[in-house]
Amino acid sequence: MHTRLRGLLLALFLTLTPTALGQVVSESIGENIVRFHASAEAKKNALPSFALLDPKMPATGAAPASFDNEPEFFVDDDGRNSFTIEIEPGTSLYGTGEVPGPLLRNGRRTILWNSDSYGYKESTQSLYKSHPWVLAVRADGSSFGVIGDSTYRIEIDLTDSITFHAEGPEFPVIVIERDSPQEVVQTLAQLTGTIPMPPKWAIGYHQCRYSYYPDAQVREIAKGFRDRNIPADVIWMDIHYMDQYRIFRFDKELFPDPKGLNEYLLNDLNFHNVWMIDPGVGAETERFPPEGYSVYEELMEGNHAVKTADGEVYKGEVWPGWCVFPDYTQQRTRDWWAGLYKDFMAKGVTGVWNDMNEPAIFNVVSKTMPEDNLHVGDPDMGGGGDHARFHNVYGMLMIKATRKGVQEANPDKRPFVLSRATYLGGQRYAAGWSGDNSADWWDLEGSVPMVLNMSLSGFPFYGPDLGGFIGNGDAQQFERWFAFGVMFPFARGHTAVGNVQKEPWAFGPEVEETAREALNNRYRLLPYYYTLFYDAHTAGTPIAQPAFFADPSDPALRTEDDIFLIGGGLLVKPKLTLHGDRVPAMPRGIWNPLTLEGADNPDMPEFFIKGGAIIPSGPVMQYTTEKPLDPLTLIVALDKHGMAKGTLYEDSGDGYEFERGDYLLSTYTAMRKGDTVEVSLTGAKGEQARPDRSLHVRLIMENGEEVTAHGRDGETIKVKLPN
Ligand code: GLC
Repeated sequence: MHTRLRGLLLALFLTLTPTALGQVVSESIGENIVRFHASAEAKKNALPSFALLDPKMPATGAAPASFDNEPEFFVDDDGRNSFTIEIEPGTSLYGTGEVPGPLLRNGRRTILWNSDSYGYKESTQSLYKSHPWVLAVRADGSSFGVIGDSTYRIEIDLTDSITFHAEGPEFPVIVIERDSPQEVVQTLAQLTGTIPMPPKWAIGYHQCRYSYYPDAQVREIAKGFRDRNIPADVIWMDIHYMDQYRIFRFDKELFPDPKGLNEYLLNDLNFHNVWMIDPGVGAETERFPPEGYSVYEELMEGNHAVKTADGEVYKGEVWPGWCVFPDYTQQRTRDWWAGLYKDFMAKGVTGVWNDMNEPAIFNVVSKTMPEDNLHVGDPDMGGGGDHARFHNVYGMLMIKATRKGVQEANPDKRPFVLSRATYLGGQRYAAGWSGDNSADWWDLEGSVPMVLNMSLSGFPFYGPDLGGFIGNGDAQQFERWFAFGVMFPFARGHTAVGNVQKEPWAFGPEVEETAREALNNRYRLLPYYYTLFYDAHTAGTPIAQPAFFADPSDPALRTEDDIFLIGGGLLVKPKLTLHGDRVPAMPRGIWNPLTLEGADNPDMPEFFIKGGAIIPSGPVMQYTTEKPLDPLTLIVALDKHGMAKGTLYEDSGDGYEFERGDYLLSTYTAMRKGDTVEVSLTGAKGEQARPDRSLHVRLIMENGEEVTAHGRDGETIKVKLPN
């Protein structure tokens, strides 16, 4: 039968027999947040949630009678449990996690199945992460969000409604109703968790390559930044540091003294380090007799491995050859895994990179482990089950355990973990990057909407491999990408083995100068970024935001992904295409051109500050903690009422004293009075003393010209307006 006709008949059948799947159960789990179950039976059998902070989140009462945004549950032709939420004309759809292509997702299908998707392009249906989440913005700017709370393979079909088809059993659907998309995304974070506050160094620039080796090259690259006065905070060690690609083991010739290397980097160069750990544990083979490889021995002796359907230890091929895989669905296995980080971190390791955790397997067509593999699954995860159920959360459970291990190894430091695979809610454990992109203009341009849709899916700490992982690219492309890419929340350059060098200076002096200017801008704006990370941590406010956040009711902004916002106050307009021939829609209202470094460089993005915003900035630094924030410079643009407001968050940059009050959160307000603008401190929270420091004000006019004034922080500064 024709599928469409079959669909129509099914719909008719469903309308005529509303109890076909039982009576839909709806319940509130927060104000204007309703959870729906296909039936009372479905509710009774619902598996614990992996996305929600509380896996068994209790209902708070009956759903409000006015809540009419109800999913229609049905079973599709392929037997998949499904639901549809109809959308009104003019509704724009976003989110669905890590997806290639444009920001607007109307008309698109995504398959949630974490995949090692090397060299993905627009037609790739599954990337590395799974977010069963859609953000909908109605024509009037009001908004709702939908979670399909299942971990199984899900097809999200946005061709003309919001429709989810999930393999596996029936699952709850959660709908959040709010007045604006900002509030929906913040509510998503209330439900699924916010990012932990990162150490300050992690919001600086990261330099990576597959791989820097031997250790002498690592030293040389890090020193290269310092010698050239190019700001950076972190250097990364990819798989070549390992002894025969075995995790937690260092190659004795290439990295004979990892502790000494880490100490040199930190003490002499003020560079932090991140080292890679994959999930696959190199198994015993003739080539690699495992004697003495305690990670493998402990895994086998402790019975921690994922099993096949027959109950044998499953083996799949990854970098070390045959590997066995920890079954992170058990607390005792996660604890064992966490414990492995103790000695590792004791070598002066400051951050951990978890890769290949879809999990990626080389020797099979599916590129991952068989779906009938078995996981033990603790009772709080709904007990054991097959890989089909746990596949999409495998990476998230891994980073949960990693984060715990990194935290326990250094209890007074904030962990930094980066992950390739994750699931809705994974922002609680790690930052992420967009995997194996290419040195290609499509990827350069597409990195903007990828960052934005992840941001709209509750995952703010994210960015692409700047300059492209696959292929060499060329100087012009690298220069353009780097110039705006370092403004993303996670800013890291990386490239694959065999490619040309891609450090900021590798393409010659012109590119080097652009890269320096771009990083100088990022580092000048660190006070603003750090404040935005704090807002993301405390309130779930996205750091990178789409242009439509500036005016959710403006239809012109709904598809706009050639520009992006950093926080609510800064607009970045990159040079995305070679000839710069596209003109993005700008938000209405006051957006004043802001001069940052490199303003006359044709490869640099243009910057705009929103009327009404105050952006805190500081001196250029070579690394995030190089200098005190002095002078503090407030960049100010007035709104139509002659007012502006902004905040600045400061703390020690690491550790947890900030949770006990050791921080300073300042609110600054600007107000026009006649021909003068007064900028004053109008609020302060936290117990940290206000530093005795200079305060500079840059008042930015509508034409981009500026007036400056100087004083001390805490005093009111008067800026005289030009005639
Ligand atoms: C994967 C990662 C990439 C890394 C490489 C080697 O392809 O996505 O970033 O460099 O593995 O570890």
